[in-house]
Amino acid sequence: TTPGVIFSGIQPTGVPHLGNYLGALQQWRRMQDSAAADTKLLFSIVDLHAITMPRPRGLLRQWKREMFAALLAIGLDPSRSIIFYQSMVPAHSELQWILSCTASTGYLNRMTQWKSKLSLKDNVSLSSNEAKQTLKHGLFSYPILQAADILVHRATHVPVGEDQRQHLEFARECVTNFNHTYGTSCLVAPETILSPVKRVMSLRSPLQKMSKSDADATSRILLTDSAHAIKNKVLKAVTDSQDGISYDPVGRPGVSNLVELASYFDAAGRTPEQLVEAEFGAGVSLKALKNRVAEAVDAELAPIRERYAEYLAKGELIDRLVEEGAEKARESAEGTMRLVREAVEL
Ligand code: ADP
Ligand code: NA
Repeated sequence: TTPGVIFSGIQPTGVPHLGNYLGALQQWRRMQDSAAADTKLLFSIVDLHAITMPRPRGLLRQWKREMFAALLAIGLDPSRSIIFYQSMVPAHSELQWILSCTASTGYLNRMTQWKSKLSLKDNVSLSSNEAKQTLKHGLFSYPILQAADILVHRATHVPVGEDQRQHLEFARECVTNFNHTYGTSCLVAPETILSPVKRVMSLRSPLQKMSKSDADATSRILLTDSAHAIKNKVLKAVTDSQDGISYDPVGRPGVSNLVELASYFDAAGRTPEQLVEAEFGAGVSLKALKNRVAEAVDAELAPIRERYAEYLAKGELIDRLVEEGAEKARESAEGTMRLVREAVEL
């Protein structure tokens, strides 16, 4: 079946890393490029989500701009996809409030991400009650805003990583609760599209996923890294002391992460197992694998970093695209909000 409306979002955290690219952004571009002509695509830089956590002052606007330039650089086309800052479309917040009036707090309490924040606080020896007082309400109700992001555009398909599967489930629950309460069918239950790339692992501690929050910046490759920086990081990637190359994500996570990366960029589209079988047999050194990965990553990222620099230098172009994206997204949201307000009798 043809997707009608595709929506996804990403937090404005500055320049994305290779995990963000392979796990999310690349799939956005592929969906855009293969979408039917009548499919609507929306990609939001979710700044309202970004303020649920403490962050350094003075950087949010820069990070938003960098993410906007990055989305253009990876190949999202503003004449095809609506790219916009979440906070410029107030309907997201309006629908969040309306949904929160029919959403269950019990369900929110069971969210894995919320529970992990609670237990993080527990670890620094706070009782669960104290933890709840330290944590902010925005973090608790985050999934309702996320549901509103999706539902306000009546998205039918939402590409996300595995970590967001539960939140999508909750969004569908919000649809059921709302439509049932108000005897309407104006909200649409979205389908989850899981990214084919599950987890790119940290180059320094391969049991953890590559993440912007890792203090060691050599653990991740940024979309703007030079060929030289990419090579350095990949050559220094932590592996193990075993000889040769094999694919065994549990026993040899570091080596297996590199084999997976080689597989993601393999022109013939071979799986990690097939690649090891065909090209990384006896006599092939780990160094050769690392060189291959560094070259493949650079080949993919070189045109992206060039376009990124070009876009970032064109300040007025970005300003205009930001305004145009917001305008289109407001129009998209308003169609839904008219029905919602009517159903709620507002
Ligand atoms: P981070 O972990 O760096 O904070 P985010 O949580 O902001 O990244 O993730 C943004 C998007 O990128 C999400 O869709 C997430 O699933 C994806 N993503 C983040 N890190 C990785 C990774 N290491 N491997 C695959 N996908 C990832
Ligand atoms: Na994260």
